[in-house]
Amino acid sequence: MCGIVGALLNRGQVLAGMIEGLRVLEYRGYDSSGVALAGSDGLAIAKCAGRLEALECHLEASPAPPARAGIGHTRWATHGPATDRNAHPHKDGTGRLALVHNGIIENYLELRAELAEQGHEFLSETDSEVCAHLIGRELELGGTLVEAVARALKLVRGYYAIAVLYAGDEPELVCARQGPPLCVGLARDGTWIGSDVLALIPHTRDVIYLEDGDLAELSTSGVVVRDATGALVERELQRVDWDVNDASKGSYAHHMQKEIHEQADVLARTAFHRLDEEHGDVRFDESGWSDAELSGVSRIKIVACGTAWHAGLVARYMIEGLARIPVEVEYASEFRYRQPLCEPGTLAVAISQSGETADTLAALRLAADLGARTACICNVAGSTMVREVQSHILTQAGPEIGVASTKAFVAQVVVAYMLAVRLGRAQGVIDAEQGRRLVRDLRLLRPGLERLLSDEMVQKIQAISQRHKGVKGFLFLGRGVNFPIALEGALKLKEISYMHAEGYAAGEMKHGPIAMIEAWMTSVVITGHGAMAEKVRSNIEQIRARGGPVIAVGADQASLNLADEAIEVPASSVWLSPILNVIPLQMLSYEIARMRGCDIDKPRNLAKSVTVE
Ligand code: F6R
Repeated sequence: MCGIVGALLNRGQVLAGMIEGLRVLEYRGYDSSGVALAGSDGLAIAKCAGRLEALECHLEASPAPPARAGIGHTRWATHGPATDRNAHPHKDGTGRLALVHNGIIENYLELRAELAEQGHEFLSETDSEVCAHLIGRELELGGTLVEAVARALKLVRGYYAIAVLYAGDEPELVCARQGPPLCVGLARDGTWIGSDVLALIPHTRDVIYLEDGDLAELSTSGVVVRDATGALVERELQRVDWDVNDASKGSYAHHMQKEIHEQADVLARTAFHRLDEEHGDVRFDESGWSDAELSGVSRIKIVACGTAWHAGLVARYMIEGLARIPVEVEYASEFRYRQPLCEPGTLAVAISQSGETADTLAALRLAADLGARTACICNVAGSTMVREVQSHILTQAGPEIGVASTKAFVAQVVVAYMLAVRLGRAQGVIDAEQGRRLVRDLRLLRPGLERLLSDEMVQKIQAISQRHKGVKGFLFLGRGVNFPIALEGALKLKEISYMHAEGYAAGEMKHGPIAMIEAWMTSVVITGHGAMAEKVRSNIEQIRARGGPVIAVGADQASLNLADEAIEVPASSVWLSPILNVIPLQMLSYEIARMRGCDIDKPRNLAKSVTVE
């Protein structure tokens, strides 16, 4: 959701580094942005609606005074539309204190009414401004800034990551977290904060992840952290190994395009060092799992949201098919509120790119309360999810900046496949010989991915996109392990092109969706394997008989021959086919969105990392 940066420096000027951080964080929210700076003349605030460029233009026209301390924000609106006034930072009544916030203050109406009665005037419609006034009021009552923040936060109900800047004789910066993530970077030029570690990488690799309830007081040389009880705590200093270039577009037009094209490398990075070809097995060293622990797993519950939920659906086919363990896949937002049951022997597995999705975290905590062992498949090493679960597996896709997930999804599916092999081996369902075959199949997948990402394929998909970019809508159909790929193809297209698209299990077509078939409704059909191939061919015939255009994607030549447009995907085992089939669907969405002039990396209304409900 929103992005936060801030710093207290011992030298130099803070503004340029903050803008650099905000640029990296803009993918978290991009409807308005702002900065507050504490210099010798007090507090200066610049903020405006629109993209970060609008703020930069504003700062060029009215330069900010020099300052070594500041906070900045990119917003994804929750309370009040994207206007200059609602943009963060917000000030308190004295005008000496500024605050940026990510999250939701649930009791803000009560607090606002109480403060208004006491004479506080509000300039915005946000819940966040209430926090600034509350802290300002507490500060007037006496004590230090950190004490005032602690007292004020006791009155707040909700979720927050906040940074509070006070322009006193010396500038002060305090931040706190309850829910959304916040980390502190220890750099040579001072101390930085960011809602995402990516914002800190230009300045330092030495990072402290704050935990829920933490309150941190920054100085130019470090940070003092107190936990929810007010006790001083040492949070572990961690070294981040992401590269600053990982978060840049390089020579690509969009982050999403770059991320699509990274996927052959993502496969290698996520999988190859874990494959044990000799024993026909997979090693998840960081998980700490023993064979004994995995052989005791009798049921798996996967919780996730959005694209990660689709990866969970693929995982179900793989784990049930290969390891023969029953799997349920749940939307985290449903699981957390429906009084679920967890039988003994349940392993709850969350799948998440960010490791910060509020619903997924809540579902995981509930599963732990119900007695399940917990694990996550996650892309961010220092994330809340990774720190909270008993075992984790990192997807190693590198930072994903494009709001529409691509490479993280492929990495999740790759891990799901390896998890199926590992579970099958631990439970004695897969023998060494079959294990070797499964592991070798994965190792051999890379050339297939590279072929799909070739210039020739890009040109082919551009030509198809050109012919279909103006249709009324899209129907994506797939069967078995490729049914979730149909759902994912539809989601990708919706997200970035705003076209209507639906994903269906191909076998369900006759039970309703067939009514939609006509000349302006394009069906994207993922071809089947083995006995399923024939069934999918019938679907294609039925669509064509009703005048509907068909784009077939897959390795079954007979299906491809029946379609109006054929996107041939290299042959693979059925279990690995989702990894290949999803690539042309991602490319199709990308090209259609580009041709329709959409803002691909920042689709309307979306934000990456949904840290509030
Ligand atoms: C879609 C997309 C979202 C996320 C979902 C979960 O392209 O990116 O649907 O998959 O918000 O996010 P994570 O994986 O961070 O938990």
